[in-house]
Amino acid sequence: MSIPTSSSRATTIELDSREGSDEPFSDDLIRRRIKEYKWFVHTNFGNGIVARSDSWPDQPEDSWHAGASKFDFIVRRNLPDLQGKRILEIGCNAGVISIHMARLGAAEVVGVDCDRGWSKWKEQAEFVKAALEWRCKATYNVRYVECDMGDLPSLDLGEFDAVIALNCLYYVDETTMARVTRHAAAVAPLFLVQSNVGDHPGLRHRTNVAFLQKLLESNGFPRVTVDQPWDKPRRGFLPRRYTRPVILGHRG
Ligand SMILES: C[S@@+](CC[C@H](N)C(=O)[O-])C[C@H]1O[C@@H](n2cnc3c(N)ncnc32)[C@H](O)[C@@H]1O
Repeated sequence: MSIPTSSSRATTIELDSREGSDEPFSDDLIRRRIKEYKWFVHTNFGNGIVARSDSWPDQPEDSWHAGASKFDFIVRRNLPDLQGKRILEIGCNAGVISIHMARLGAAEVVGVDCDRGWSKWKEQAEFVKAALEWRCKATYNVRYVECDMGDLPSLDLGEFDAVIALNCLYYVDETTMARVTRHAAAVAPLFLVQSNVGDHPGLRHRTNVAFLQKLLESNGFPRVTVDQPWDKPRRGFLPRRYTRPVILGHRG
């Protein structure tokens, strides 16, 4: 596996809150910076400071449908042990899951998103990373790249052990979905795509398991498996299947 040299490979803990600013991190600074962004998932900065989700204010902190707890429920068990692995995360948003993977031992995570999808996402993700590195006195080898996922083939990000696209691939059209999938097959032996059979009636079939299965099969992943467990039991309701199953494309 070729690993390109990353200029962002952190060797020291950055104490500055952002480039060009000499105000060091503090709880007060983190609280102020949180207000500069909108938040997709609740984001825990430690010491009782949590950026609450604007997209989904009622989501439980340990939701199986969002953030690091979603990763732990449905994604982690479908990836190889992350120790030493190189992972590409498409549609990484503010980087909560990218950082989580680095904390679980990934050697490098490259997160890709685009401003058109989430305004100021890269600045926000760099803030989350720097604030958590300061809080945890750690460094995370995570770097972020501004790129429409459809343009990924034009970048040389090297090879990966896995590419993941959680609740995002279906935002682009079918032709672009196929291009992204072929690119994933060119750079990694495993492509994990999260579907969404509950929301997004407007996106219709593109979010569906059957469509995504066929997409992966026809674009470089001859073996495709699906993981759709039961959802968390809810009192008074019949058991039901998890509405965000993952589809796994295996190259070999
Ligand atoms: C519903 S959010 C999911 C975020 C994260 N993957 C998760 O599961 O928590 C969709 C993300 O996909 C990103 N996105 C949408 N269209 C994109 C595109 N064409 N290229 C790259 N990212 C895109 C959005 O900016 C947003 O961050």
